[in-house]
Amino acid sequence: MDVIVLTIFPEMVEPYFSYGMIRKAHEDGFIRVSAMNIRDYAQGKHRVTDDKPYGGGCGMVMKPEPLAAAIDSALQKSPGAKVVHMTPQGRPFNQAIAQELSLCDGLIFLCGRYEGIDERICQNYIDDEISIGDYVLTGGELGALVVADAVIRLIPGVLGGDDSAEKDSFAHGLLEHAQYTRPCEFDSMRVPDVLLSGNHALIDKWRLETSLIRTFLKRPDLLGIRSFSVEEKKILKNWYLKLEHIIQGDGQK
Ligand code: ADE
Repeated sequence: MDVIVLTIFPEMVEPYFSYGMIRKAHEDGFIRVSAMNIRDYAQGKHRVTDDKPYGGGCGMVMKPEPLAAAIDSALQKSPGAKVVHMTPQGRPFNQAIAQELSLCDGLIFLCGRYEGIDERICQNYIDDEISIGDYVLTGGELGALVVADAVIRLIPGVLGGDDSAEKDSFAHGLLEHAQYTRPCEFDSMRVPDVLLSGNHALIDKWRLETSLIRTFLKRPDLLGIRSFSVEEKKILKNWYLKLEHIIQGDGQK
């Protein structure tokens, strides 16, 4: 997959691609990541990329011609790529959108600055608009990196284990189970015995249960929009029975 970030600050974006999994994915040929400077596509001695808004008002707007030329050039490098405009007005980003984008041949992220980009670019050059949250950043670069990172790790082969992404938080609408590593005892707290048992059926059951508990405690909204497997329903009913028992025994001890 090609990942191209269009920005007036490529120096801000490029270092992120030089570390960890993304660097490895690039070196191993799973992705080709790059940043292109929109200013290189601006005209005139000063290569101006912004101008005053028609109708007045504060701030500046990114001019359409350099943006159009930069997008065209990126599309020549990656013909089938999807052009994604990073903006607080876009679709709220989540794991399902990351999955969807991971199937694209290429992604071209257009990062606006100032008061945004000329509307005619949004109408004719953009395939998708994505927001990384209901707040306003000074530009789209951080958003592009967030989305690129979440998407790249889903490309088959990029993560170490075959099914690492399968087990992610959100992959099945639940938060991921608790994780432990050595030492077995830390700050007088022991790793749960079941994880040392070597019994993988029991370990899977424990993991599913801690996933459900965490989701219930931390993100109950996720449970409301999800259906449950037979095994999950069994766990939930068991809690229900235990709680019922506690409530019935209220004050008796
Ligand atoms: N650019 C500015 N704010 C943004 C946001 N919340 N998401 C994506 N791009 C942005």
